[in-house]
Amino acid sequence: MIENPKLLVDKPRSRAMLLAALYIAQEQYGWLSQEAIQRVADRLNLTPGQVYSTASFYTMFRLQPQGQYRVQVCEGLSCYLVGGAEPIADYISNRLNINPGEISVDGKITLEIVQCLAACDYAPAIKVNDELYGNITEDRLNEILIELLSK
Ligand code: FES
Repeated sequence: MIENPKLLVDKPRSRAMLLAALYIAQEQYGWLSQEAIQRVADRLNLTPGQVYSTASFYTMFRLQPQGQYRVQVCEGLSCYLVGGAEPIADYISNRLNINPGEISVDGKITLEIVQCLAACDYAPAIKVNDELYGNITEDRLNEILIELLSK
């Protein structure tokens, strides 16, 4: 929600710093709460609506509390053509007893379904926090989950 899009255009320095500021805030708070959005807006002299509209556009930003590991499963076209997100998401859901958008009971893993992760050459792909995993098979997925749950 942009109250006045002209405000963002009129503040090119703030706009240039916005993604970095959001990334830093997310690292600091773990996710972008209303408080975090407000702080970024105050720092950059933008409105909370301007900051939120940018944060909500990018899948790298978390607008909800998250588990320690954010597992994003791609349902984009390339991944769809090689089996799609459903079997991967179902495997994770059944293994951890969570649905997409939920956090596992131990607080370790959040499952999300997202659009293209820009790893189409390695479809099907998932992302765990900032790390991409391609050519996902059930065995590979199992290995990844075991590693995450053991940390
Ligand atoms: S469609 Fe899945 S990574 Fe691009």
